[in-house]
Amino acid sequence: ELKENTIIIVFGASGDLAKKKTFPALFGLYKQGLLPRGVHIVGYARTKMNDHEFKKRQVSYVKGTDDPAVKSPLDEFKEISSYISGPYDEDSGFQALEEHLLSIETKYASGPHNRLFYFALPPSVFIPVAEGVKKHNYSKNGINRLIIEKPFGKDLESSRELLSAIGKQWAEEETFRIDHYLGKEVVKNILLFRFSNGAFSPSWNNRAISNVQIMFKEPFGTEGRGGYFDEFGILRDILQNHLTQVLTILAMEPPASFGAKDIRDEKVKVLQAISPIAPEDTLLGQYVAAKGKPGYLDDDTVPKGSKCPTFAATTLYIKNERWEGVPFILIAGKALDEAKVEVRIQFKDVTEGAFKDIPRNELVFRIQPSEAVYLKINAKVPGLHTRALPTNMDLTYKRQFPESKIPDAYEALILDALRGDSSNFVRDDELDGAWKIFTPILHWIDGKNGDPIKYEYGSTGPEEFGDYIAARGYRPSDGQYFWPTPHAA
Ligand code: BG6
Repeated sequence: ELKENTIIIVFGASGDLAKKKTFPALFGLYKQGLLPRGVHIVGYARTKMNDHEFKKRQVSYVKGTDDPAVKSPLDEFKEISSYISGPYDEDSGFQALEEHLLSIETKYASGPHNRLFYFALPPSVFIPVAEGVKKHNYSKNGINRLIIEKPFGKDLESSRELLSAIGKQWAEEETFRIDHYLGKEVVKNILLFRFSNGAFSPSWNNRAISNVQIMFKEPFGTEGRGGYFDEFGILRDILQNHLTQVLTILAMEPPASFGAKDIRDEKVKVLQAISPIAPEDTLLGQYVAAKGKPGYLDDDTVPKGSKCPTFAATTLYIKNERWEGVPFILIAGKALDEAKVEVRIQFKDVTEGAFKDIPRNELVFRIQPSEAVYLKINAKVPGLHTRALPTNMDLTYKRQFPESKIPDAYEALILDALRGDSSNFVRDDELDGAWKIFTPILHWIDGKNGDPIKYEYGSTGPEEFGDYIAARGYRPSDGQYFWPTPHAA
């Protein structure tokens, strides 16, 4: 664990990711006293800025509510931060950085000096920076760790190239590949929920479960980020990483322990049991202008006539004894009607006897917003007659745990990396396994196949979606579902 004598170096410090996620998370940890004692934060990027400009930018997404009369944690945070600008592909930049790091370290007690390098960088410079840092900035007497952000390649081949180039310089144990969905509270709860509740273990399989949906919905479009997005599309942006990671946790066998190796070994086995995605199992969409909002192709940063999907539904089948025949439907879309990420596990019908067409049980993990786990069940309507009504057992976090603060995913993951716990990071073979599943369909789409179906900005996605999930076994419950406050916090 990195407890002291540590510098956190953020590459890409002038970029959006650093500003919106990395620095606010570092400040959140700092404020709670969770960063190593005496920590320093050094930003590095190409943009020329003075210290003042950097700090203004660095904290622009941090909500500082402190009393100006007292020295606030935010002031302290700025004091321990500094910035260096330089190139990503020339020795001189890393040498200047090294001098700066050494000047900070002279303040530290002797003994090992640790360095945590955070790459909030465009993928085109991952390799030169990994090499430059290894050559010039690698601490010789302390612990070195590297946190990297996606995209980790565009397909199996490019991902392998990246893995092997970085792997030549950095050991797998030193490399922490972030998938921030693994830091989300409800995603972390899935593992605990599954393996600590005897009520569910016997039904966690194809005998009881009909189908599983893992769904990501965002209510906004690419809005200026179209240049990046168009090169990747929704499958690479969300399905191949975030949703597939959630799938592996839902489907894995019980690990021998909750240690990083055991968990990730089991996740890899799930990926290995999934065949590559078939085009006929995939529904692609692209949003068009509606209600005064621009369509995807109206975004100036998007190439004319692009066929890039902004919505995708696809189905993965896990070929093992537990899951044979259960469709795992992954769905993600931009510019939809709401912001919501959830896992919906639909159980099979009960035997027809006394009941006809009674709704199925569903267990839902609502990852965001308003974190919750709930189970849709049928119950007797209170009164002197017997009538079944679908209702729910509800664990909405804000009601059930009113005192708890739900940590930000990035805070949770950076803390894990400082502690050296890689169980919530993506191991090289997991990445490989996920790309194997997605690469054929991605190449098929890149080859201009599969015209995306148009859907309106702010809608629920392509009209065909209802039929798509119905064909894969999902049965919506009829309208008379009783739950007075379904999404209330
Ligand atoms: C990122 C994607 O990985 O996740 C974005 O690149 C997406 O397109 C984001 O908006 C969603 O993250 P969150 O935490 O807001 O659900």
